[in-house]
Amino acid sequence: IPVEPFDYVVFGGTGDLAERKLLPALYHRQLDGQLSDPTRIIGASRSVLSHEEYRKFARDALKEHLKQGEYDEAQVKIFTDRLFYIPVDAKSDNGWDHLKHLLDEGKDRVRAFYLAVAPAIFGDISERIRDHKLITKTTRIVVEKPIGRDLASALELNDTIGKVFKEEQIFRIDHYLGKETVQNLMALRFANTLYEPLWNSSYIDHVQITVAESVGLESRAGYYDKAGALRDMVQNHILQLLCLVAMEVPPSMNAEAVRDEKLKVLRALKPINPSNVERLTVRGQYKAGASAGGAVKGYLEELEGGVSNTETFVAIKAEISNWRWAGVPFYIRTGKRMAGRMSEIVVSFKPIPHSIFDEAAGRIAANQLIIRLQPDEGVKQSLMIKDPGPGGMRLRNVSLDMTFAEAFNARSADAYERLLLDVVRNNQTLFMRRDEVEAAWKWVDPILKSWEAVGQPVQAYTAGTWGPSQAIALIERDGRTWHEVI
Ligand code: BG6
Repeated sequence: IPVEPFDYVVFGGTGDLAERKLLPALYHRQLDGQLSDPTRIIGASRSVLSHEEYRKFARDALKEHLKQGEYDEAQVKIFTDRLFYIPVDAKSDNGWDHLKHLLDEGKDRVRAFYLAVAPAIFGDISERIRDHKLITKTTRIVVEKPIGRDLASALELNDTIGKVFKEEQIFRIDHYLGKETVQNLMALRFANTLYEPLWNSSYIDHVQITVAESVGLESRAGYYDKAGALRDMVQNHILQLLCLVAMEVPPSMNAEAVRDEKLKVLRALKPINPSNVERLTVRGQYKAGASAGGAVKGYLEELEGGVSNTETFVAIKAEISNWRWAGVPFYIRTGKRMAGRMSEIVVSFKPIPHSIFDEAAGRIAANQLIIRLQPDEGVKQSLMIKDPGPGGMRLRNVSLDMTFAEAFNARSADAYERLLLDVVRNNQTLFMRRDEVEAAWKWVDPILKSWEAVGQPVQAYTAGTWGPSQAIALIERDGRTWHEVI
């Protein structure tokens, strides 16, 4: 179903995010017939380009980033005809009148400003949008992470944007919420009766959340070395996943209802402080090794200065202090240059209380529900069954396996495709509310401070492995193991 016509202004329109994600995502929405006339996408940044030059930029971006067979000349033509470009300067009034002039042609359309720029200029841009009277009744603003580098800077950033835009106009993107399987987590939990009665500390032993990446620094040293894995991945993406696993059933899919429940989870996270940080967290940094069959450099060799205490890997044993989850550890880990690109949530159920089978039947494994985010998105439920045949009662652990690509024979849409149009539809369910971002920082900030207070070192791990041995010890100490299947 087409969405109503809109004007999307992308600040940072010639940047990496626009090139790799935003333009391809909007193009796919057009292929699916969702963009209706006279929808426009307006690139804006400091570079001086004409509309035509921007269209060429977009064609090149699509050629480079679309999969084979997706680039269709006729569709690309229709798509690039929707593109415009205005050079603007965030720090001065240069160009803003031109932008206003162009936008005035579509006064009644939904208007979205996407800030695909460094957070340091969120304030400048917001104020100029206001001062140049670009805000209409249906104007929304979209901001990308990082929203702050600690609680204080997050509060400041939220205040800055909040001075110009009302909370209901602000869409804070966490692209993990746009991933198909992440939304499926809600379907799995709340569209089936099967899991919810078991979804608590009586039946669940522990939960694991792994977001492993095979890539390294990817020429993002300037940003990444100041951030590190905890800020880059845990404060946002991983905590969002944890919330969706752990939240109570919201009364509806309404944005406030869902976000209220996520907020309660964040507020119930057990604090980590200098007295327990070394027991509950592991920091790692990759050294030279192998990835995808080739030799790769270590983190320090990729950095210009060659010295850094930044973590490229983090593992945490988190706990949620409420009735549903008390005593159920949530082991989370994420890192660069790990053994593969593999993200999954594993819900491990408790073992059976008593076995009626004799030893010959074999070991009875506890049930696991595995929700795979990438690659091969899908859901797997492990179950014990009897090995077929007349050979007596021998038990086997098998999986009910539903890989989405096989089950639906559909391409899996990129997370941004859904989210970009949710902005137009004015649906905030999959966006982070201000208090959520701040609650996440309230838990993460003391971890950062505790690391500093105790001088917690980064443990070296070889590129292409599952992280430092201390991360394995973190879970094995509790008599459990990481689920490690690519
Ligand atoms: C981004 C991080 O938010 O997410 C990157 O800044 C990371 O460091 C990326 O690589 C991972 O996203 P995805 O969708 O590839 O899992």
